[in-house]
Amino acid sequence: MSYLTLNNVSHHYFTKKGYTKALSDVSFSVEEGEFISVIGPSGCGKSTILSLVAGILKNTAGEILFKQKPINQSGLEIGYMLQQDYLFPWKNIMENMLIGPKVKKGNLNEAKETALALLDEVGLKDEADSYPDSLSGGMRQRVALARTLMTDPNILLFDEPFSALDYQTKLRLENSVADLLKKHHKTAILVTHDIGEAISMSDRILLMGQNPGTIVKKFEVPIEIRNEIPFKVRRHHKYQSLFDNIWEELNKNEAVS
Ligand SMILES: Nc1ncnc2c1ncn2[C@@H]1O[C@H](COP(=O)(O)OP(=O)(O)OP(=O)(O)O)[C@@H](O)[C@H]1O
Ligand SMILES: [Mg+2]
Repeated sequence: MSYLTLNNVSHHYFTKKGYTKALSDVSFSVEEGEFISVIGPSGCGKSTILSLVAGILKNTAGEILFKQKPINQSGLEIGYMLQQDYLFPWKNIMENMLIGPKVKKGNLNEAKETALALLDEVGLKDEADSYPDSLSGGMRQRVALARTLMTDPNILLFDEPFSALDYQTKLRLENSVADLLKKHHKTAILVTHDIGEAISMSDRILLMGQNPGTIVKKFEVPIEIRNEIPFKVRRHHKYQSLFDNIWEELNKNEAVS
């Protein structure tokens, strides 16, 4: 039984001038604990897929199921992490971590313990009293990641969360995200423009094409690569051949669109 299933999902954006057909006939499934990446040209509908899974948008056609139930009736909890960290600058790191539990009116003492444990896991336990402005971009994204895990979501959605960071920070963050998700046995969908990032973090990669936005190819990442930490993956001989395959397909699809 699949954890998340998209069956023939299409989405149109309606505007004053007409409509944009953003997605057409998208079908894929994600198993529990699996890490999936979605890559494809700008405007092909990657972020739209995440918004549909998060329930922020309602698909025009098709169905999205979590544990075989329509997502709005399934109790699906989503964690969303974007390129921008959306930390509130006037709240310190602990207060930022506690926003979710406060909204949900949960037990705050327990939430504080969880927050400290998660900050510890991302190497920022000593920054609980600091304000976001005093942290580097990479540290802020690590806080954002820890905050995303506070509500123990079923599925984590990442929309280019590392793209604004410098290369070294990005590689380090890829490692800590991969570690943390494996440890917490989390299911994730990552949207990225970076083929290397997709290969190094994922179990499977979905390549999208444009006009209409749809999945054109699915790639399985070899097990040897999956078992390697993201930083080392880039030096694995199987990495280069998969990279070349994806690159070729990407160019093929951009050429016809
Ligand atoms: N709110 C909106 N209203 C109308 N059209 C939209 C809206 N959001 C996105 N679109 C259109 O839908 C299509 C898919 O957009 P989407 O943002 O999902 O693409 P993307 O693959 O995430 O692109 P990028 O890589 O640039 O982030 C694009 O043609 C875009 O112009
Ligand atoms: Mg996008």
